[in-house]
Amino acid sequence: MSRVFTSQANKLIGKSAVFSGWAQTVRRMGKLVFINLRDKDGLLQITCSPDIEKTYETARKVRPEFVIQVKGKIVERDQKNINPDMATGKVEVSVEKLTIISESETPPFEIVNEERQASEEIRLQYRYLDLRHERMKQNLVVRHQAIHFIRNYLNNEGFIEIQTPILSKSTPEGARDYLVPSRIHKGKFFALPQSPQQYKQLLMVAGFERYFQIAPCFRDEAARADRSPGEFYQIDIEMAFVEQEDILKLSENLFSAMIKEVFPNKKIPQTPWPRLTHAEVMKKYGTDKPDLRKDKKDKDELAFAWIIDFPLFTKQSQEDYFHGSGNKLAPSHHMFTAPKKEDIPLLESSPEQVRAYQHDLVLNGFEVGGGSIRIHQPEIQNKVFDIIGFSKDQKKQFRHLMTAFKYGVPPHGGIAPGVERILMAIMGEKSVKEIMAFPMTGEARDPMMGAPSKVAPAQLRELGIKIDKEDK
Ligand code: AMO
Repeated sequence: MSRVFTSQANKLIGKSAVFSGWAQTVRRMGKLVFINLRDKDGLLQITCSPDIEKTYETARKVRPEFVIQVKGKIVERDQKNINPDMATGKVEVSVEKLTIISESETPPFEIVNEERQASEEIRLQYRYLDLRHERMKQNLVVRHQAIHFIRNYLNNEGFIEIQTPILSKSTPEGARDYLVPSRIHKGKFFALPQSPQQYKQLLMVAGFERYFQIAPCFRDEAARADRSPGEFYQIDIEMAFVEQEDILKLSENLFSAMIKEVFPNKKIPQTPWPRLTHAEVMKKYGTDKPDLRKDKKDKDELAFAWIIDFPLFTKQSQEDYFHGSGNKLAPSHHMFTAPKKEDIPLLESSPEQVRAYQHDLVLNGFEVGGGSIRIHQPEIQNKVFDIIGFSKDQKKQFRHLMTAFKYGVPPHGGIAPGVERILMAIMGEKSVKEIMAFPMTGEARDPMMGAPSKVAPAQLRELGIKIDKEDK
């Protein structure tokens, strides 16, 4: 008899079937042993009676998180035993044969108990147990459904998904890079991409016109509730021959459709999504990511907004990782963002007044996506490099892009909503970690794998690397 999932139990009343999974709870009542069996789809109550002697003996040995297999008959429960909180609460399995497949030690926290979250360290060290919790499982299922929907939607809109390199060159997005030493070219390093920004622009030059990618991004930055200190994913989109309006419309349609399908209980009260200029929003709310919910207690309200007309440059407030020139102006978004057409004459005279074709997508007070129309004229790109104080050598780092732009570059632009961040905001989760299978701690460690870790001296020798300073 082949195995069936608990989700099928309601349709199998009166039939015999085999179920496999984990014993979530084990209760003894009188002479009966009740086990809640958990599989990928949910829970199902199984009942072992002393009438079937061998099975009963086995049932008495089962403890929570043992992996078991049961064969039995699906029967309707008595009216008084119906559990309305359980999808299979009207039925149970009357066990004929029970097998313990593998045993489990007592887990370091109670799987079903939400309060297990007291220690993040322990949750992440035993993440495979933490993920057995219903809410965590559901978060990953929903993440899958959202990405699946987005892939299909963009495919139907004529986009193609293209994977770009992970071993790449430093892209100046404003965070620190994760570096990977090259063995073949000693003393040289790859950088993990902070985003596929330059690749997607090069794909536009290549003629792909409508690109997307569920793109892994790596940034060595301080963790926050809405920020991973290592890797995260973006729904990275780029289009050729578009104006800002096209990008906003596509994004709005895409996410509205995705939410309708994957989160049918959520409501977007204001459509089309309001568009606010940066100047307006700063004046009115004092932040460029205002929470526009009418009722902040309503967990189902999704208040999207577009913030546009950002200044192209901002006074540099953060440490300048990528050029260190001491120049006071830095790009607000990134250095490939185009100035608004009518402000181009101001580039020379008063760059700080130039507005950009940048668009940030804000949801319930979180910046869930960012993008822009890009510069496609080499002379304007060069001007921007000058304004942010690039030296000749620094400009050389972008020679590939400037060279590519000599071979017929279409006007282009795009956006990149963060997968974890937008889902966290939609679901009202308190951290991006809750949407990730194996996140790092706030101090950028993985307590489960023990990463980062030391490597063998021979590995370092091969790379030509000597350790100068070392944490315990
Ligand atoms: P930006 O740097 O604004 O733009 O990032 C876009 C979106 O990515 C998400 N995000 C993060 N999510 C989790 N952890 C992080 N550390 C983190 N950093 C960013 C956010 C953010 O809105 N290449 C450009 C996009 C473009 O111009 O098309 C870019 O990366 O949701």
